[in-house]
Amino acid sequence: MPKEWSTSRELLLAIDRTAPTPLRQQVEEGLRRGIGEGRLPPGTPLPSTRALAIDLSVARGVVVDAYEQLIAEGYLIARRGAGTAVAEGVRRAADRSAQPAMGAEPAPDQPARVRYDFRPGLPDLAAFPRAAWLRATRTALNRLPDADLAYGDPRGLPILRRALAGYLGRVRGVLADPERVVVTNGFSQGLALLVHALAARGAGRIGVEDPGHPGPRNLVRVHGATVCPVPVDAAGVRIDVAGDMDALVVTPAHQFPTGVVMSPRRRGAVVDWARNTGGWVIEDDYDAEYRFDREPLGAVQGLDPDRVVYAGSVSKSLVPALRLGWLVLPAALVDAVLAVRQATDLATAAPVQAAFAELLASGGLDRHLRRTRRIYRHRRDTLAAALARHAPRLRLAGIPAGLHAVATLPSGADEEEVARRAEAASVRVYPMSGYRVVPPPVPSPALVLGYASLSPAEIDAGVRRLSASLRG
Ligand SMILES: Cc1ncc(COP(=O)(O)O)c(C=O)c1O
Repeated sequence: MPKEWSTSRELLLAIDRTAPTPLRQQVEEGLRRGIGEGRLPPGTPLPSTRALAIDLSVARGVVVDAYEQLIAEGYLIARRGAGTAVAEGVRRAADRSAQPAMGAEPAPDQPARVRYDFRPGLPDLAAFPRAAWLRATRTALNRLPDADLAYGDPRGLPILRRALAGYLGRVRGVLADPERVVVTNGFSQGLALLVHALAARGAGRIGVEDPGHPGPRNLVRVHGATVCPVPVDAAGVRIDVAGDMDALVVTPAHQFPTGVVMSPRRRGAVVDWARNTGGWVIEDDYDAEYRFDREPLGAVQGLDPDRVVYAGSVSKSLVPALRLGWLVLPAALVDAVLAVRQATDLATAAPVQAAFAELLASGGLDRHLRRTRRIYRHRRDTLAAALARHAPRLRLAGIPAGLHAVATLPSGADEEEVARRAEAASVRVYPMSGYRVVPPPVPSPALVLGYASLSPAEIDAGVRRLSASLRG
């Protein structure tokens, strides 16, 4: 006679024979909960159906049915000859409700196994120049004086600040004095330092582009400042309708996510706003290295280095995992930013800085950019061709640049529903609404599609499935 309660300690799973819920459903729900709570992370092998049935004192068919249902839903994966495991694509429920960080994109609600993820913002991680980075690290470390292994200058290694000043002047027209360059752990940290430095001067209202990346919005809020959304149109941020604010974060070279370039007139207006109000422009130049049909306009910082903070990072040009970026600051903000740096994490890891300085000096970064520009250009062309062939009602908008594109949907289309249907077909796309704060007066449904981390074959197959999901 089976007990009323039985448990699988291996999975922290319990079933209650007195409950009205069928046993199969209890097993299913227990596993779903374990996956959702993150106790059973992706890749966790599950016991065989036989072993679990014995543990729980239930018929094996109960466990077989539960596993099959969860495989169909994408929670589990049956690996030939290797049993059943938690699928790689499932995310924890907590992850889905968490506020997005810089690297995260607004995610759909349904956990599913996603085969083609058009996630914007990621470069091709397999293209990271490991051999060149290793060489640069070896050379740099051999040369690095012992003194540079102590607590160094919070602005970063002088050798990197000089190399960056030269590089940013050459490729972006940034007026960079190495004394005003601060090496950071990525754009996100640079923005956090600025938010604190500005708050210390009583400047706590930070404008952000709407639509825009949810990461900076959330970062600004978490660090105690007030987020002031400013709409974006085909010429960039609508500074003419902005309310009172102390600083404005913009992506002039390739607005994220719409892909528009800030017009010369708007660039002038943004700088005028800063001059007239004593405000600060924070220029997030996140993907300017990737232009496929034209040279990018120089950085807005070049128009007024005393009112514009220039910010960049290697997250798109190399990989986000390096956590390396930089600020080029107006003279008036240097001390305030360094005070925050001193009071928080002191500096960025010197060996990483030295390796990147060597990659810049040896021409390794330029070579890598030439190679990846060709790769991404081909992927963008593949995306455009695949949309034209399989989904002609979706049109690419924005300039051919960066690592993502925007596909507009026919007016009246429900972008959330499009994303849900795509997800059910194992394709993840990102509705524009996920990037908005205030809905626009006239809805213009669109999807944000990252293409850089998918192969051309995957891009074509993903678009084909997306299109089929819209018909089906
Ligand atoms: C608009 C935008 N700016 C900047 C970044 C880079 O941030 P970080 O340098 O902190 O990786 C990203 C990365 O997702 C981004 O989407």
